[in-house]
Amino acid sequence: MKGKIIVTGGCGYIGSHTVVSLIENGYEAVVFDNLSNSKEFILDRIKEITGKKPRLEKVDLADEQQAKAAYKKHRDAMAIINFAAYKAVGESVKEPLLYYKNNLSSLLNTLQGQVDNGIENIIFSSSATVYGEPDVLPISENNETKRPFSPYGNTKKMAEEILEDFSYANSNFSAISLRYFNPIGAHQSGLIGEFPSGTPNNLLPYVTQCAAGVLKELQVFGNDYPSKDGTPIRDYIHVVDLAVAHVKAVERLVTNKNKSNFEVFNLGTGNGYTVLDIINTFESVANLKLNYKIVGRREGDVTALYAATNLAKDELDWQSKFDLEDMISSAWKWEQNLRSGTKFSN
Ligand code: UFG
Repeated sequence: MKGKIIVTGGCGYIGSHTVVSLIENGYEAVVFDNLSNSKEFILDRIKEITGKKPRLEKVDLADEQQAKAAYKKHRDAMAIINFAAYKAVGESVKEPLLYYKNNLSSLLNTLQGQVDNGIENIIFSSSATVYGEPDVLPISENNETKRPFSPYGNTKKMAEEILEDFSYANSNFSAISLRYFNPIGAHQSGLIGEFPSGTPNNLLPYVTQCAAGVLKELQVFGNDYPSKDGTPIRDYIHVVDLAVAHVKAVERLVTNKNKSNFEVFNLGTGNGYTVLDIINTFESVANLKLNYKIVGRREGDVTALYAATNLAKDELDWQSKFDLEDMISSAWKWEQNLRSGTKFSN
């Protein structure tokens, strides 16, 4: 066993895939989760995949006392991977205080937990949203960051600034912030995947729920963007590739290979696909026709976002392996399993 890693939000979408990857790489993963937007049975699914059921601490990390007790109990951890956060862009516009309180308090309580217990390393779950509308493509880590369009996005930018200040003041602590482009897909087993609560906001779960008959019609938000078919371009990345990158980031910190004690890396494939590319690939992978209609633009959407991937390749020794068909077929497999009468309860 290589050591204990705390995964906050470890029952969630990217968290659960990362727990699998940690276990497969010889780490003990302890999950901190309040199950506010995730399900406990995911831990049984992780056991089905890896043979090991991770320990769960049911803890609200935005609560100072609960967080303190949980971190004290696991003071022998080598690192924390911080996924726990609210993530619905639209909801954050309506309820900004909810987002600032929850996402920033839980981060601050986690950093305090590190200081109190000498847990030296943290990996933070960030987003390409910190680049706003980019002036230069592909987006490298040197691109200027801008105020994101939503309070959700702004919690990511503010969290990075907090981590930067924290690392500057505490030279024995190290942080890596991973800026995800558009995570999609599911574990190839079909046992874990994305579990959006309510109507999904993101494209892929919307597509798969339409195909499964849960939703009636997909709306394509605008076809008047300057791209090959008029729809916006994104860098979609397989969640299993993302999970592996987190393990690489842990390894970099625990073996002291980091070049400074606050680093940021983009996680994308470097390939840009339009919304219509996604629809066409889905139709060919699933062998069915999607019911979709072109409507007006969605507020806040930018034309194109795709990553420069060389820094992650050179420094983290990581690059994506899965292609768009893998991403879409695994998401479809997960959606079909979800709808095939599988019982979902805690
Ligand atoms: N889209 C549709 N119809 C839908 C949903 C999405 O046409 O029903 C389009 C969007 O207009 C966009 C593309 O599909 O062009 C991707 O949209 P997503 O909502 O899946 O992803 P975004 O790129 O908007 O969102 C991502 C992350 C967020 C982050 C945001 C900021 O998922 O966490 O980037 O740019 F905040």
